[in-house]
Amino acid sequence: MSTAPIVIFDSGIGGLTVVQAVREALPFENIIYLGDTARVPYGTKSAATIERYALQAGELLKKFHPKLMIVACNTASAYGLDPLRLQCSFPVLGVIESGAKAAQIYGGPIAILGTRATVASQVYPTVLSQLNPSIETFALACPLLVSLAEEGWWEDPITEEICRRYISEIPSSIKTVILGCTHYPVLLPIFKRIRPDLVWVDSGAPLSREVKNILSQQAALNNSRETGALRLLVTDQNSRLQELASKFLGEPAPSVELINLEKVF
Ligand code: DGL
Repeated sequence: MSTAPIVIFDSGIGGLTVVQAVREALPFENIIYLGDTARVPYGTKSAATIERYALQAGELLKKFHPKLMIVACNTASAYGLDPLRLQCSFPVLGVIESGAKAAQIYGGPIAILGTRATVASQVYPTVLSQLNPSIETFALACPLLVSLAEEGWWEDPITEEICRRYISEIPSSIKTVILGCTHYPVLLPIFKRIRPDLVWVDSGAPLSREVKNILSQQAALNNSRETGALRLLVTDQNSRLQELASKFLGEPAPSVELINLEKVF
């Protein structure tokens, strides 16, 4: 059990920001990451399609007999978490609760930046109001930021201009902002430059602490003291993927392995 992998799933390679946080907190854990690069973005798709994609990813990842699953994608967490949990006998964690819990410690009003589908789901305001019924929220879809992050334009004047335009829509009363999309943490230096007065919350670190607590309570932490193995599965390859994966991961990425998710069911 303790050497069983943690499986992590995202619509693309943005979820490698979550892998980076998990590897920092849990360096000895074996991790299998799946990026559905053939079907990214999820944020522009319908609820039914996102749920189906999430279930297909879960079905594939179950074959690795994981001890825990992380749905690193906010959009897939919004629509696929509950159905996935019904299908799995191990803990399945999304990114939304961790981000919401961390943000409400800093206090509101809280803004949430995410994909159109995540914003439409109302999942963040719902979870935040369960944590604190009087909290005020404001959700903003920032769809262009996914493409800019995947293009690798993390410190580019055009990206900064687009971020500035989105951020100008955040009401002046807002104190805390949740980065409700796996791709946005790479743009954090730009966000902070534009609005240094706001608290910017990335769910990667709080989620990793939660994973550590759960595994430790279940006595399921890997006892090995060697750096855990990392496998990267993707549903489509392109000439830039390997390089971009290393950039998102913050370390040289292992060779990506191509798999076909549509044959899962
Ligand atoms: N991974 C998605 C998320 O965190 C963003 C990219 C997409 O639209 O698929 O919401």
